[in-house]
Amino acid sequence: MNESQVKEVLSTILYPGFQKDIVTFGFVKNININETALVIDLEITSSAKEVEEMLKGEMGFKLKQAGATELTINIKKPDEPRETSSKGKNLAPQVKNFIMVSSGKGGVGKSTTTVNLAVALAMQGKKVGILDADIYGPNVPRMMGIVGAKPEVQGQSVLPIEAYGVQTISMGSLMEEGQSLIWRGSMIMKVIEQLLQDISWGELDVLVIDMPPGTGDAQLTLAQSIPVTAGLTVTTPQQVSLDDSRRSLDMFKKLHIPIAGIVENMSGFICPETNKEYDIFGKGTSEVVANEYDTKILSEIPIEPAIREGGDGGKPITYHQPESKTAKEYMLLASNLWTFIEKVNEEGIATNEAIQPTSGASACSTAAAPQQPSHGGGGCGSHGGDGQGGCGCGH
Ligand SMILES: Nc1ncnc2c1ncn2[C@@H]1O[C@H](COP(=O)(O)OP(=O)(O)O)[C@@H](O)[C@H]1O
Ligand SMILES: [Mg+2]
Repeated sequence: MNESQVKEVLSTILYPGFQKDIVTFGFVKNININETALVIDLEITSSAKEVEEMLKGEMGFKLKQAGATELTINIKKPDEPRETSSKGKNLAPQVKNFIMVSSGKGGVGKSTTTVNLAVALAMQGKKVGILDADIYGPNVPRMMGIVGAKPEVQGQSVLPIEAYGVQTISMGSLMEEGQSLIWRGSMIMKVIEQLLQDISWGELDVLVIDMPPGTGDAQLTLAQSIPVTAGLTVTTPQQVSLDDSRRSLDMFKKLHIPIAGIVENMSGFICPETNKEYDIFGKGTSEVVANEYDTKILSEIPIEPAIREGGDGGKPITYHQPESKTAKEYMLLASNLWTFIEKVNEEGIATNEAIQPTSGASACSTAAAPQQPSHGGGGCGSHGGDGQGGCGCGH
């Protein structure tokens, strides 16, 4: 066989879990042909042994069928992701790490960030899930291209829907399209708990959680139910959004969630015709807020029509235009975030012990409760009427 014949065979082999082949992904690093001996060097992004075995099996079979006799396949993989060292209550213990994507305001790009970040992490070989916890405006199904797909039910549990190598569940997939739901405090608690407990999340390296905007019951319940490894705040650069992002960062602090940083979204606009940059909402303005909370801007994502089109069309830019500057920015965000997660695990600081309603220091009786601007009270002030004491603090 010659090199182009070998390449042709390799380009029929899909990377497990994806619709793209290993040549297109750029995983084939070297093909060495020496008379009858064929040596192929591959560098993949997954550390999972099954992925390596599947690839070796399929490559061996197809190349031998095409005429290869002496075949050596070397596969280089990253190290296994480290076990988490988180403590406290965990309703989804098979998930190693949790990223909470939050913002003070709606419409700043939380769901867009969640989707592209999750896809980037999956492309980097992590086992990834998305929990769309925005029960008021579940947009993840559209952005992941799974509108109308219904999750499979197995006995008592529900299987997430897979797209772009990411396991996804959303209220949007569980209820009828266009239906609105009105949630009371105790119902929010229940549904968040069910989304963690009754979904068959596999053994995930990381679950990326898209939150409703603001700092309310959903955030508090989630933080009490799982030890969040990393809090990510999404903001746009204008002052009114920054004001709200402070509230989101303050909430992370009160809920003892390690702050990974800020994504400044819609940060500048590069005109495709003139290549000139315009600061529509401003740019770099979140630096001040980042400093106040001893954190940093992890990413500046410009306003780009392709991002919006990718969202509306269910075709995340990170997957569909991997060569674009923005896709590379999301890939960088994913790897920086992963470094942060490893550091948190090393230090063992992901814990929700201190914010448990039963741990003595109740989430409502201490400063640990996030403010609820709409009710003006503390973390459980809104549960007064529903009889169940939303945060279990006896109110
Ligand atoms: N950087 C960007 N460039 C262009 N459009 C964007 C960008 N980020 C988000 N959008 C679009 O803005 C709208 C709101 O974003 P979304 O992620 O739904 O915000 P949120 O989840 O915070 O409410 C969506 O239509 C999305 O496609
Ligand atoms: Mg959203």
